[in-house]
Amino acid sequence: MERLHAIRYSARNGRTILLLQPDCRARTESTAIEPREKKSIQVWDLQVRVFHWALAFFFGLAYFLEGDRLRLHSHAGYTVALLVLFRVVWGFIGSDRARFVDFVVRPKESLRYLVQLVRGRARSYLGHNPAGAAMIVALLAGMLITALTGMTLYALEGSGPLAKTFVSSWPGDLLEDVHEFFADFSLVLVIVHVTGVLLSSYSLRENLTKAMITGHKNGKGEQR
Ligand code: HEM
Ligand code: HEM
Repeated sequence: MERLHAIRYSARNGRTILLLQPDCRARTESTAIEPREKKSIQVWDLQVRVFHWALAFFFGLAYFLEGDRLRLHSHAGYTVALLVLFRVVWGFIGSDRARFVDFVVRPKESLRYLVQLVRGRARSYLGHNPAGAAMIVALLAGMLITALTGMTLYALEGSGPLAKTFVSSWPGDLLEDVHEFFADFSLVLVIVHVTGVLLSSYSLRENLTKAMITGHKNGKGEQR
């Protein structure tokens, strides 16, 4: 009877598929199906990398200046808002891996990936993994809301683009609390994001931080 040989594939939805094929190695070594060699592949374009490290820098600057040096604080905050707007546009017109259609998935898939990661069964993705994708959406939203509430707060002091508009009559104490809440909330997201990156790097034995600097990861050409 012919011997069967199981081949394990990772499907796009994160599930594992087992294919049974006649065992090639049983017949002749030269016809055996060899896994493709891993090679260095460009995953993050220059725009995504510059955006990423600029966002990290200006968010950090705005946060640690707080409301103390208000001019510098507000300019760092405007830069954060502009960077997020740029990223949203780039998510539609950028390179393949930068596009939202490439990585944004339903929350259920992000949760399933997290469970797989905890069980040590997560597969590596060339682009953003499903959990990372959810975090990216949350980070972008958190940063934008923080910057917008900051602009509203600034308008109460008669400065910034929203000064002398309808927001000037909004309650200052409440707005300050809302701005502070979203700034802190975004910081918590950043801490979870960095922890996730470090844990994934450890568990997948792949330096993701280096990839966000060089733009390259090791993988197979057909990998998602
Ligand atoms: C304020 C600090 C930070 C913010 C706001 C931030 C935000 C983001 C965002 C929005 C992305 C998505 C990139 C894109 O596709 O446009 C991302 C990805 C990434 N970030 Fe950060 N980040 C921060 C700090 C860091 C730090 C300190 C590290 C390194 C330890 C890091 C490592 C990464 C990596 C490796 C990815 C790609 C993840 C993947 O492979 O899917 N980030 N970050
Ligand atoms: C997205 C980046 C930003 C972060 C992380 C951030 C963070 C903070 C933090 C932590 C505080 C201190 C809150 C408190 O203790 O009451 C603060 C205050 C403030 N921020 Fe921002 N902010 C950002 C963007 C902005 C922008 C874009 C503006 C204005 C254009 C702005 C205007 C203000 C003002 C007016 C205060 C109150 C200062 C005071 O009177 O004490 N912020 N911000």
